[in-house]
Amino acid sequence: MTNGTHTWRVSYQRTVEYEVANCPNLFHPQNDALLSVGKRENTRRFVVVDSNIEKYYSTELRDYFNYHKIDAKIITFHGGEENKSLESYLWILRELDAFPINRRDEPIIAIGGGVLTDVAGFVASSYRRGVPHIKIPTTLMGYIDASVGIKTGINFNGHKNRLGSFEPPKKVFLDRTFLKTLPKRHILNGVCEILKLAVIKDFTLFELLEWHGTECVDSKFQDDFGALILNHSVAGMIEELQPNLFEENLARKVDFGHTFSYGLETLHETQLLHGEAVLIDMAISTILAAERNLLSKKELKRIFDLIAKLGIVLHVDLVTPELLWDTLEERTYHRNGLQRVPLPDGIGKCIFVNDVKFEEIQSACKILKNWTVINDTVYEYRS
Ligand SMILES: NC(=O)c1ccc[n+]([C@@H]2O[C@H](COP(=O)([O-])OP(=O)(O)OC[C@H]3O[C@@H](n4cnc5c(N)ncnc54)[C@H](O)[C@@H]3O)[C@@H](O)[C@H]2O)c1
Repeated sequence: MTNGTHTWRVSYQRTVEYEVANCPNLFHPQNDALLSVGKRENTRRFVVVDSNIEKYYSTELRDYFNYHKIDAKIITFHGGEENKSLESYLWILRELDAFPINRRDEPIIAIGGGVLTDVAGFVASSYRRGVPHIKIPTTLMGYIDASVGIKTGINFNGHKNRLGSFEPPKKVFLDRTFLKTLPKRHILNGVCEILKLAVIKDFTLFELLEWHGTECVDSKFQDDFGALILNHSVAGMIEELQPNLFEENLARKVDFGHTFSYGLETLHETQLLHGEAVLIDMAISTILAAERNLLSKKELKRIFDLIAKLGIVLHVDLVTPELLWDTLEERTYHRNGLQRVPLPDGIGKCIFVNDVKFEEIQSACKILKNWTVINDTVYEYRS
């Protein structure tokens, strides 16, 4: 090395690899899935569990760790968007710090909905610069979306997911029996994300929803078609996320329904669940696509009819062109200066556009408000 300036290049590649696995009866003492990561002897586990899961599985959960002679600290977390906060995050961190786990082989176990796994994942990624974690989703939203990828986060300063990280879990265990106790509104909330995948990438999934969606909603996905639709959805989600885990590419098909929804769910946080806001966005985006002749009128009606058949309510009253436009501008900034709005060009396919105009949104809002549900089963356009 000579005197003077020099440039050092640091290069390191980190492999990301984790399993997302169907795993029924997770709390059965003979099932060692929960212990498949980390030490098994003389060990501890920090477990964050949703209060509704605690309500139904408190004894089984405690018996499980007692049976395996594991010193477990189980803390109860209340779901709901209002708890995806800095306060909740700090509270978990304090509880964790009072029960100092081994940094490498005593993973945090997160059992709950998307709010819980997002917050606990963020804790895992930031505590002592990162400790391992396992996710067990217990809502449909968590099962097919929130727990499958590597994004963590909390809402901050009036913005959704303003703080967060990309933190791969060690494992994700899917047990659909948790969905048995989930209220219908939250089942439908998750169905909105399944519909998203169907419309932009999976025509077979769309047909499965048309043929069996209603019975799956009624059975809370406990029947055979429920299993099929769930597996299709998880596989589709992973297929989209895997090549772009860290979102280097900002044009993402899975952002269908996630452009205009951002402003809607921020403004109407107490009224709209995430999936319900996504549904409104999908309806607007689908109309935009039809008005651009990307989608035929027949296909547009087919999508609206499926929404009606599944029994999902479209809260059109909350939609204004101004709100949608402001949100689009914010998302354009978030997407590095281009709109990158995913629009379906046929059912099961999608393109990205960067030139949506305010007038188009105005007209799409007007059209949306003219679609009316008839007999709870189909939509009719009434101008
Ligand atoms: N990280 C990601 O990639 C990603 C993807 C999609 C959504 N999300 C986030 O997920 C969040 C929404 O998740 P959610 O809809 O699961 O909300 P949630 O975690 O608030 O759960 C909804 C409600 O269901 C209850 N609950 C959980 N499991 C239950 C069960 N089995 N039986 C009965 N009740 C149960 C909870 O206590 C809560 O009241 C949003 O904050 C969204 O931003 C994240």
